[in-house]
Amino acid sequence: MHRKQFLKNSAKGVVLITLLPSLAFCTTNGQQKTISGNYEVSKNFDPDFDIELTATPSELQLFPGNQTEIYSYQSKLLKGEKSALEKLPGSYLGPVIRVKQGKKIRIRFKNQLPREGVVHWHGLHIPPEMDGHPMYAIENGEQYIYEFEVNNRPGTYWFHPHPDKITGPQVYQGLAGLFIVEGENDDLPSGEYDIPLIIQDRTFDNNNQLVYLQNNRMGQMQGFLGNQIMVNGFPERTMEVSKSTYRLRILNGSNSRIYKLAWNDGKDVIVIGTDGGLLEKPIKKPYLMLAPGQRAEIWKDFSDAENTDEIQLQSLAFTDGTSMGMGGGMMGGGMMQSDGVENGIGFNVARFKIAKSGGNSKTLPASFSTIEKIDPAGAVNSNSPRQFFFYNQRMEWVINGETFGMTEVADWEKVKLNTTEIWEFINGYNGHGRGMMSDMMRMPHPIHLHGLQFQIIDRDISGMDRAVWETVKDGFMDEGWQDTFLLMPGMKVKIVMKFKDFQGIYVYHCHNLEHEDMGMMRNYEVV
Ligand code: C2O
Ligand code: CU
Repeated sequence: MHRKQFLKNSAKGVVLITLLPSLAFCTTNGQQKTISGNYEVSKNFDPDFDIELTATPSELQLFPGNQTEIYSYQSKLLKGEKSALEKLPGSYLGPVIRVKQGKKIRIRFKNQLPREGVVHWHGLHIPPEMDGHPMYAIENGEQYIYEFEVNNRPGTYWFHPHPDKITGPQVYQGLAGLFIVEGENDDLPSGEYDIPLIIQDRTFDNNNQLVYLQNNRMGQMQGFLGNQIMVNGFPERTMEVSKSTYRLRILNGSNSRIYKLAWNDGKDVIVIGTDGGLLEKPIKKPYLMLAPGQRAEIWKDFSDAENTDEIQLQSLAFTDGTSMGMGGGMMGGGMMQSDGVENGIGFNVARFKIAKSGGNSKTLPASFSTIEKIDPAGAVNSNSPRQFFFYNQRMEWVINGETFGMTEVADWEKVKLNTTEIWEFINGYNGHGRGMMSDMMRMPHPIHLHGLQFQIIDRDISGMDRAVWETVKDGFMDEGWQDTFLLMPGMKVKIVMKFKDFQGIYVYHCHNLEHEDMGMMRNYEVV
């Protein structure tokens, strides 16, 4: 093979299949379309930006030799300033959509994929029928019109497919882009100094074709892990930078892989933003844990680097706490995948080469923004938070014992408009008569709620394996606004949020896309 691989072993010796549109695990959901979505352009909606976005199978020259079969979004700006739509030439990813807060946008989504498609605007606070719930998936040849006002704080959001049971393979094949909400005038690195870093892992066969899961339940149970790190859709990419200060907008766009990001030059990771935009002030960390779906904005100053320097962003080794056996902890990680690509191994993610002259060194601001703290005492359930147990039950990933039903909402998933609530998420399930087969296997779950941003108020590690915690403990960013957080085995996390502006059904789920596809997803309804 000509390609260098970051991860030691390739997936040799394991039976793998190439991802083709007609995979056996893609079961048809058989749902009748009884749902009224937005299939036509609304006459009374006057957008500042109008974009055509087509999801289609395509081919790309990623490596010498055969082209790689991918899925990608083709885009066209029909109305608005050009800067709103940036393509990523040569990449399967993109486009990057950039609009200012308060603007109105229309996206005409056309599905040319062999299976159903739908676009989720991850992190945006928009009405349920615009959010990309799987119930609004359209068939090949159909279109869906997304029309909404961008009310989120300036920050780094993203979009990706969300059809029931086949989100994992569609994202894997290449569908994902950034949705950047721009601020008015922040004094931060901009233009060429404002760089997106979308981190993913993939596996390619000897014909340069993408290889997805082993087509069995165990592979899906664990989640896809590849042996090749891709940055912005490119393998082995070295970014040429100057001795300047950069704003790196990092997205973990991987299906299942968790990163423990650190610099190899001994400097701290300086976090300036989270899922929901800029922090109040910068926070320095020796390393940063970034789970699938999460974003982090990093401040990086290369101004004192030597001309010959190559600085690497790495993912350090850690223990992810995966275990099998009652209550977890009996048999340690690596049980399921033992081919050298398991979560928690260390490798380089991206290389930055000081190759350009010039310099634009900036001073790190002492503060960026104000974050209005939600007072947990003001929650309607401040004394008895709703509890959501994420665990494995009879070889299924479940939430409070349940899996996804397209429009199913339980009583414990209904909330009232204009109320503040505390929700507690627990990784694992201890007892209460659900039988011996409950909680046999534990894994980390990145938890994501659609439709809003929340604040993390408590991270309880008392139920965790201490040895696991020690390897990740300095990497959690619980400040600021979030829409996704990492829930490690045995961990409990409390969040507080307000349900406002929109009524209706949104999903919440595990953002390990294979877990999501297996049904570790539920609806909540704002009534
Ligand atoms: Cu980024 Cu429901 O997902
Ligand atoms: Cu999960």
